[in-house]
This record gives sequence, structure tokens and C-alpha cells, in this order.
Amino acid sequence: MKKIVIAIDGFSSCGKSTMAKELAKKIGYIYIDSGAMYRAVTLFALENGIISDTGIDTDKLKSLMNSINIEFRLDPVTHLPITYLNGKNVEKEIRTMLVSNNVSKISAIPFVRHLMVELQQKLGEKKGIVMDGRDIGTTVFPDAELKIFVTASAEVRAQRRVDEMISKGEKVSFAEVLENVKSRDHIDQTREESPLKMAEDAIELDNSYMTISQQDEWLEKHFNDIINS
Ligand code: DC
Repeated sequence: MKKIVIAIDGFSSCGKSTMAKELAKKIGYIYIDSGAMYRAVTLFALENGIISDTGIDTDKLKSLMNSINIEFRLDPVTHLPITYLNGKNVEKEIRTMLVSNNVSKISAIPFVRHLMVELQQKLGEKKGIVMDGRDIGTTVFPDAELKIFVTASAEVRAQRRVDEMISKGEKVSFAEVLENVKSRDHIDQTREESPLKMAEDAIELDNSYMTISQQDEWLEKHFNDIINS
């Protein structure tokens, strides 16, 4: 059967990864969370004193980019990719509020984006991949056979993230998370380097009032339409 590239872009916390993971599992494709890569660079920057109250030391980050090694290894139980930064499993650490609050600034830096895009394109060379992010359909894989752009209201997204964090034992308030969601939307949409925007040939999905199984069905139908065309 022919293999394609599936690009799923959209706002933060709108359920992109949930649907991307589920589809990848069902159709036997590789799943890559490109946001995890920007989060890993952010964690590296935090750990190495590159981010401080006065801003980001971009010169230092640039000089250390070659010492950042990001890989995905499959979890033997869930078969989902786990993010490794320089050989260490950082899957949990990259999801904390501290990283979330700093990741947009790091992901707006052009040399960071260039390197991540290069890595992402390598991962998709053989097709058979579902990748989610902000610029997958516009910049990383402009020729992707299936492009989805997911949206949901900021309030719905903030509530989903609160539920997720609380279930992992993190203490957060709705107001704090809503503020983070809104500020990331703003930075993601207004940055100069590949801002978040819908590709012209993407299909839009507003999942504010959809259940997870409804959105999974919706996505699988679009995948089948392409495979059978
Ligand atoms: O999907 P996420 O919330 O884990 O993404 C983390 C941050 O990384 C988000 O603020 C936007 C940025 N990002 C990006 O700029 N480009 C991507 N392809 C993926 C994520």
C-alpha cells in the first residue's frame, strides 16, 4: 500500500497529538511530536543558563547547538516515541510549566527552527509518518499528501491542559494555563520565522465540541479517502 506524509498543525493543546498518535497506531505509521523537539531545546537552554530573567543568550545557544542531540526511542509497552535529550529520557521534564512558559521564545529563533526542520524532514524521508506541530504542512512537508489544521477555543484548550497536568500530579490553576495558552498563540502566530498559519491546501477541524472518538473517526476517514483515491 502506498505510504504518505500526514501533517497535523494547529494551536497549542487542541488535541493534535491525541489524534495523530491514534491514527499512527492504527495505520502503522511513525508518530513524531515536533513540539517535543522545541521543548527539548528549551530544556537544554534552561539547564545551561541560556535563559535568564534578562532574556536568552542566543550567541551561547548558537555555539552549543551542535551539542544538542534529540532522538525519539520507542516505548516498548506503548510503542510511542519517547523524547531523549543527549541520551536522557526527558519526556516528563519537557512538559512542565517552566518549559511551556519559555518554549515559544526558543522556537521563534531562526537558527533553532532551521535545525529542527532539517531533523524533521530527515525523519519523514521514507514517508509513512504522522507529524504534528505548527509549520508541518507549510514549511516542513509542504508536499504532504494530507494536511490537517486543528482549532478549538482558548478556554476549551486551557481546560484540557489543566486536566492533563492535574492527572500527572502537577498543581496548576485554570487562569495560569489560559494565560499561557493565549500568550503562546500570540507568539506562535506573530513570529517572523514560519508563523503558525493554515496551509492553503489543509483541511480545517474545529474540535471544541467533539469527542476524541469523533475526531479519530473524522481523521481516519480523510486518510482513507486519500489512500483509496
Ligand atoms: O505542541 P507543543 O505545545 O508541545 O509545542 C511547544 C511549542 O513549540 C509551541 O509553543 C510552539 C512550538 N512549535 C513550533 O514552533 N513549531 C512546531 N512545529 C511545533 C511546536
